[in-house]
Amino acid sequence: MKIGFIGAGKMAQALARGLINSGRITADNIIASSPKRDEVFLDQCKALGLNTTHDNAEVVQKSDVVFLAVKPVHVSKVASEIAPALSKEHLVVSIALGITIRNIESLLPTKSRVVRVMPNTPSVVRAGASAFAMGSACRDGDAETVEKLLSTVGFAVEVPEIHIDPVTGLSGSGPSYMFAVIEGLADGGVKVGLPRDLALKLAAYTLLGAAKMVLETGIHPAQLKDDVQSPAGSSVYGMHKLESGGLKGVLMDAVEAATNRSRATGDKALPRDFRNTEIETEKMMESAQQQRT
Ligand SMILES: NC(=O)c1ccc[n+]([C@@H]2O[C@H](COP(=O)([O-])OP(=O)(O)OC[C@H]3O[C@@H](n4cnc5c(N)ncnc54)[C@H](OP(=O)(O)O)[C@@H]3O)[C@@H](O)[C@H]2O)c1
Repeated sequence: MKIGFIGAGKMAQALARGLINSGRITADNIIASSPKRDEVFLDQCKALGLNTTHDNAEVVQKSDVVFLAVKPVHVSKVASEIAPALSKEHLVVSIALGITIRNIESLLPTKSRVVRVMPNTPSVVRAGASAFAMGSACRDGDAETVEKLLSTVGFAVEVPEIHIDPVTGLSGSGPSYMFAVIEGLADGGVKVGLPRDLALKLAAYTLLGAAKMVLETGIHPAQLKDDVQSPAGSSVYGMHKLESGGLKGVLMDAVEAATNRSRATGDKALPRDFRNTEIETEKMMESAQQQRT
């Protein structure tokens, strides 16, 4: 299978690295494009062994699965560039924040197979969490293809599209919250006398271990938390501080704020009821037809 990335930035590279590290896709089967102003990203892709180009249509011509890995504001332009080169054999996978499947479908030739994914950056170390939603023209087997690709870089699950913005607020943006948590715990460790390096490692392993316990035991986190706290022990004193600071409420607010931001970003880049005019759609279909014949 040949994979293309339109946009060769942070997320495209995270996914490409994960795919290569998994051994399922070799670097020479991946191509990435970026504008000339972003030569540095293409240099990084070349260092990974990827093919590179400035031509987005070339990515489509040389790929079975095409990832749209650009910022939301660039989706419309990219879609118009690739529409003539797209056929029904391509699977288009958008990771753009907030842009709905319907928006993307309306920018591409009729019956284009579109998938919307919200990945996250731990994909680079194959510990990502991605959720994806399937478009109206997707075929049997497309969900399995996407699941197989994304699961090479971590956990992947199909969800109804209505869940993608909330997924963005939780796991898409979540790594940044957790990096702040690690930093805060490490700062605390330093404050009470630990060397910085050791404090950072202990903080990171603590999050990793807690996450593994939730996933591997299946026990509710509230129960696991209770199990750590002995009567009048140190943990319950620490927990009292966290609860006084409203930790869970703040985390809930963060997920809600990022979810709303995802919705607003999509609406700003391309309104939810956005539709190409019939003329625009016809023009794209004609040009796509000419390209294929
Ligand atoms: N980073 C994350 O944690 C994360 C997580 C989930 C989803 N996402 C989503 O993934 C998408 C990419 O994010 P990112 O963090 O990878 O962004 P990024 O590092 O800025 O990469 C996007 C790249 O696409 C390039 N680009 C712009 N217009 C283009 C065009 N017409 N053709 C080809 N390439 C073009 C950009 O160039 P310029 O910089 O010159 O414009 C940039 O190099 C976004 O929609 C984001 O919301 C990101």
